[in-house]
Amino acid sequence: MIDLKNFSFFSTLPTREVEKIKKACRFNKFTSGTTILKEGETLEEFLLVVEGQVSVIKSHAGKKKTLFTLDPGDTYGEVEILNGTNALCTLVGYQDFQVMFIPRDFILRLIGLYPGFARETRELYSRRAPILLEHGLTKAVFGQIVTFFNVKGGAGKSVMSANTAVMLARQWRKRVVLVDLNLAFGDQAILLSLPCDRNIYELSLCRPPLKIAKIEEQLTPHSSGLKVLLPPPSPELANKIKTEFVEQVLEILRANYDFVIVDTHNQLTDLEMMILEMSDLIFLMMTMELTFVKNTKVLLDLLQRLKIPREKVKVVLNRAFKAMGLEPSRVESSLRYAISHFIPSEGDIVIPSINAGVPFVMQRLEGSPLFMAVDKLCQRLVGEEPEKGTWNMFSLIREVFGL
Ligand SMILES: Nc1ncnc2c1ncn2[C@@H]1O[C@H](COP(=O)(O)OP(=O)(O)OP(=O)(O)O)[C@@H](O)[C@H]1O
Ligand SMILES: [Mg+2]
Repeated sequence: MIDLKNFSFFSTLPTREVEKIKKACRFNKFTSGTTILKEGETLEEFLLVVEGQVSVIKSHAGKKKTLFTLDPGDTYGEVEILNGTNALCTLVGYQDFQVMFIPRDFILRLIGLYPGFARETRELYSRRAPILLEHGLTKAVFGQIVTFFNVKGGAGKSVMSANTAVMLARQWRKRVVLVDLNLAFGDQAILLSLPCDRNIYELSLCRPPLKIAKIEEQLTPHSSGLKVLLPPPSPELANKIKTEFVEQVLEILRANYDFVIVDTHNQLTDLEMMILEMSDLIFLMMTMELTFVKNTKVLLDLLQRLKIPREKVKVVLNRAFKAMGLEPSRVESSLRYAISHFIPSEGDIVIPSINAGVPFVMQRLEGSPLFMAVDKLCQRLVGEEPEKGTWNMFSLIREVFGL
C-alpha cells in the first residue's frame, strides 16, 4: 500500500486531502523504455513518480536532450498546468516504473485552497520553467556545478570526481574545471599528478575585483584538457579561504565553463552548505555499508529540510559488488530514494591508477564495467539521450554483478 505522506510533495496538505487525492488519482505501472508523455500532447494530469526513474527529454534543433530525471517522489506537470500549455517534454522511463496521475483540476483546486502547497508548487515552477520553456538553453549558457559529497569519508568522492571530470573533458570535449574544496587535505593533486604552485590560496591573495582571467592564472592544466583549481599548499592555510570567496569563484567559473566539478571534504560546515545550495547537481556518494546508509539517510532528510530540490540530489552507490550483505532495493526503500548510479568495485584498476596518478578513464579500459559506469554518469550530465535499455539500473547491476 502506497503511503502518500512519504512524499514531500504532499507534506503541506492535511491528511483528509491526501486521502481524497488517493481516491481521485490513478496509479499505473510501466516497463522500462515506455513513453508516458509526448512533447506537444495535452497534459490533463499531473504526474508523480512512485517507483523507478523517468527521463524528461526535450527536442531542440533536431536533437534530443535529457534535461533532468525524475526519481521516486519527483513530480512533473506544474509548468504546463500553470502556463496552460501542452506538454513541453517527452517522458520516458528507463526502469520498470510506477507513476501516479493526479487530475489537473485537482491540483489547481489544492493550489487555490492551501497557501503552503501553492508556495511549494510555485517554487518548483520557477526552478523548472526556465529550463523547460527556454529549450534547455539556460543550461547551455551557464555551466553546471556538479558536487560529489557525503559526510562520511572514503565513499570515493575524490576518485570519482577526478575520473568524471577527466572523461567529460577528454571524451566529451567539454570545458571542465575541477575544484578541490577539501581545502586542508585535498587529494586531487596526487590523483592527477599535478604541481601545487597554482592554487586557491594564491588566488585569494589577488586584489579584488575577482575576474575570470585571474582565476585562469591559478588553474592547473591537466593533459586531458581539464583544468584544476587546487587547494592551499598546506593544511593550515585552509582557514584563510573564506566561504564568500569560494562562492564568488564558483559563480564566475559556472559562467565560463560547461562543468564545474566539485570535490568536497566530509563535513558539513558553512562552506559545504553553500556549495550544496549552489550546486546544480549533487552526487551523494555512498558504499553498501549500514553506516553509509544511515548517514546518507540523515543527509537526505537534511537536504529536504534545507529545501534543496530533490531532482538536484542523486545517490551514487560506489564499490558495488556481488556479496554486499545488503540488497540495493532494501537500501532504496530505507533511504526512500532511488539509487541513480552504480559504480562497480574494481580495486585492481582503481588503486594502481591512484598510485600512478593517472585516472583510470585515461587507460585502455573501454568496455570494462567501471569505465562504462563513469561513462553513463557523464552521459547523464551531458544530457545525451541514453541508448534505450542500456541506461538502466537493473541492466547495470547485471553487468556489474555478472548475473
Ligand atoms: N570503484 C571503486 N573500486 C575500488 N576501490 C575504490 C573505488 N572507488 C574508490 N575506491 C577506493 O576507496 C578509497 C577512497 O576513495 P576516495 O579517496 O575517492 O574517497 P573520498 O570520499 O574522497 O574520501 P575522503 O572523504 O577521505 O576524501 C580509495 O583509496 C580507493 O582505493
Ligand atoms: Mg577525498
